[in-house]
Formats: sequence, structure tokens, C-alpha cells
Amino acid sequence: MFNNLLIKKPIQAQPHVDAGEPVEGSIRGEATFKRTLTAKHLVMLGLGAVIGAGIFVITGTAAANHAGPAIMLSFVIAGFACAMAGLCYAEFAAMIPASGSAYSYTYATLGEAVAWFVGWSLVLEYLFAASTVAVGWSGYTLSFLESIGIHIPAALSQAPINFCTHEAASAGTCEFGSFVLTGALFNLPAVLIIAAVATLCYVGITQSATANAIIVSVKVLVILLLLGFGAQYVNAENWLPFVPENQGGDRFGWEGVVRGASIVFFAYIGFDAVSTAAQEVKNPQRDMPIGILGSLLLCTVIYIAVSAVLTGIAPYTSLGTAKPVATALEAYPALSWLKSLVEIGAIAGLTTVILVMLMGQPRIFYSMAQDGLLPRFFGAIHPKFQTPHKGTVLVALIAAVMAALLPIQLLGDVVSMGTLVAFATVCIGVMVLRRTQPGLHRPFRVPAVYLVGTLGVLFCLGLVAIMPLLNWLVLLSWTVIGFIVYFAYGYRRSKLRHPR
Ligand code: ALA
Repeated sequence: MFNNLLIKKPIQAQPHVDAGEPVEGSIRGEATFKRTLTAKHLVMLGLGAVIGAGIFVITGTAAANHAGPAIMLSFVIAGFACAMAGLCYAEFAAMIPASGSAYSYTYATLGEAVAWFVGWSLVLEYLFAASTVAVGWSGYTLSFLESIGIHIPAALSQAPINFCTHEAASAGTCEFGSFVLTGALFNLPAVLIIAAVATLCYVGITQSATANAIIVSVKVLVILLLLGFGAQYVNAENWLPFVPENQGGDRFGWEGVVRGASIVFFAYIGFDAVSTAAQEVKNPQRDMPIGILGSLLLCTVIYIAVSAVLTGIAPYTSLGTAKPVATALEAYPALSWLKSLVEIGAIAGLTTVILVMLMGQPRIFYSMAQDGLLPRFFGAIHPKFQTPHKGTVLVALIAAVMAALLPIQLLGDVVSMGTLVAFATVCIGVMVLRRTQPGLHRPFRVPAVYLVGTLGVLFCLGLVAIMPLLNWLVLLSWTVIGFIVYFAYGYRRSKLRHPR
């Protein structure tokens, strides 16, 4: 039985195209994806998925509570882990251009049960991140609307259930760890943005990629303005002490820098989402590595620069707010115009994160359904739009319900853990495949693969290891549920195990 669980999908059976082949033919007369995307689209999708709540929201709290100005180092550590994983993703994505991303790579290298575990962990990354970021989008949009005189009633702008955080407990409003009723009905803006983005995903990959590219241009422009004008107000004294003295636990000191890395890792999530578009790329062998590594490199540079400017223009202790970039700019009346632009940039940024996550999740489910591990429902492709339309609608519905009703923003760390587990598995897979099938054609090869792969595994699992216990419990419960679902459904219906 154990061998059976680790059955591997032959790589030849993966959807594979020759470089330059323009359009994939229909499989058994069914509608299938169309190949329209280029390297430029992929880099934009990467920037769309990556730059969002991480830089506009989380950086500030991580600096104020854990790393101080050394948040720049936290970004370097998290970025290094991502670079190692990104190289491994690039080798796989060029060799196995399948929409299942890490799930498909793992199926080909480590076997079905591990692939299922990775696919199930990716739900944390894509579906849960979409909901989490939609809640952040709602917060930014409400405050922007408020600033131009439009007021949305509280009953329609929050989830009815909230979680009592440390901050609320110390203010005496609730008991830490308990769930409290807010009196609100549901988070309407979060539902609306998910509905709008899902509609775009439903009607086409080209439309989604084009809308993404336009919105990404806005957010990148805003970030460049922030860097250009903010840099003129940097006071180097704010960077000292660079690593504030440890105050116990992971508050500051080197412990804080490392904890900061595990928090800001969230900001990097998404460069791997590029790989879920592999079946819709004109020349995946050449373009997937460019898309994955190009977007990762650009984001790393942007993040280190933004965190340097933020901690340079404001004392790190003041950045622990829900809108740290706007907070940092508040001290400079001459930059008030930039503050409003930053709000627009953040709204744009969060929109594309939701877009790419809602694009990626149904495509991973599509691959899992093609393998028989999920119902055929998820494998349906719209005859005209050539998108996984049914999966898109269901994923959007679940994301909307979670964002509307639950304190989903608590799951930020768990989203990161699911992603880190997938990254580590991809690093292991790349090394295993180099040993087991050294002769396979690899359009892109990771340099010094055993060093890069091992560092990738160590850094990714290291960042998971230092996550708080509560998050571990959530991840563990999620995994147990996943295996119950696998043995109840996929194990019995896997096409590889039960070929007709
Ligand atoms: N990296 C994405 C963000 O920061 C998930 O919002």
C-alpha cells in the first residue's frame, strides 16, 4: 500500500509543448486552455500576485514589533529562501509546463500522496490568500472612500465574527483568544472585489492578464514615486540602532530579525503563481523561468528599497499601524499628495493579488481533477472562454464567504506556512529528479542544484519552524482534513492507480 501511495506520474504524460508551438490542440475533443501569454505577461502576473498586503500592510508591524530598521535584513533572508525555491520552480516549470504548479511537479517526482499534500497546502496559499487580501482591500478602500466623503455603514464593512487579539485584550475589550460578535452583517466590499475579479477570471486569461498589467503599472508607478520622493526625506538616524536590542522572545534583536523574515515572507508569496499559467503560455520552456525569476528579482529590489525608505523617514516604533506607508508619510505635509496616491496604489496592488490568486487556484484544481484526485467538475473548461469556469465560480464563492463572514486576516501566517511547505517540496523534488532521471531534457537548469536545493529546503523549513504554535495547530488540522478527503475520494479515483 505504501508504494502505491507514492506512485509517480510519468513526466511524458504531462502536458508538454515544443518551444514556439502557438496553440495547444484539443484533447479528446474537449475544450482546453489556449496559449496566448508571453514572458512580459508572466512578469506582470508575478508583480501582480506579489506586491500587495505584504509591503503595504505587514512590513510596518513587522518592523515595529520585531525587526526595527533591520526589517531590510528580514527581507533579504525571506528573499533568499524565495530565490532558492524560485530557481527550482523555474527548472520544473520549463520542463513540466502544467497548470498544477508544485502539485504537478511533486506528482512526477515524489509520488501521489506527497503531491496531494502539496496541492492541499497550496489551497492555503491561493484560496486563503485571496480572502485574506480581500479583507485588506476592503480596509484600504473604506478609508479611501471615507477620505472623499463616502461612508459605508459599519454593518456592511466588517465580518460578524472577530478574534480577540493581544492588542484588543490589553485594551480590556475582550479576552485574548476568544471569538467576539461585532454586530456587523458582513464585509460587503470584500465580497464585491472578489465577485468583480472572478468575473474577469471567468471570461478569459488574456483579459485577466491585460487588466492585471494595467493595474500593476499603477502600483509600480506609485511605489517608484514613493521611493523617489521619500528618499529625499530619509533621516539616517532613524536607522539606528539598526538591530534594536532584544526585549525578550522574538521582540527585536536577531531573533526579531528572523521572526520578521517569517512574517514578511507573506510579501513574496505569488511569484510561484506564475507557474499556474504554464499551459496558457506560448513558449513555456523559455518564458516560465523569465516570468518566475524576473518578477521575484524585481520584487526583492523593490521591497528592500521600500523598507529602507519607510524606516528612514519615520521611527520604526511608529509604523505598527494598519497603513504603515501612509502613516510614515503623515509627518511630511509636503508629501500629502503622495499619501493619497499610496492609498490608490495599495488598492490597485491588493486587487491584482486577489486576481492572480483567483486565477491560480482553479488551475491547480483543474490539474488535480485531470488526475482524478478531485471531481471532474473542476476539470471543466468553458468552450468559448477557455477558462476553468466552474472551478473559478466555486473558488470565488468560497473565498467570498470566508472574507465576508470570518476573521480570515488571522490566517496570514498560515498562508505563509502552506506556501513554504510547497516551496521546500519543490526544492526536494528538483534534486530527486536530477538523480532519478538525469537525462531528461531541461530547458532551464538550476546552477549548483544540490547546494541551491538544500539551502532552499533549510531556509523554507526554518521559516516554518519558527512560526507560533497556534499556526502549527491550524496547519496540522488542515493537513489531517486533507488526508481524510484524499482517502475518501482521490485515493479511490486516481487515474494513475486505476487506469481504465
Ligand atoms: N504577496 C502577496 C501580498 O503581499 C500575497 O499581498
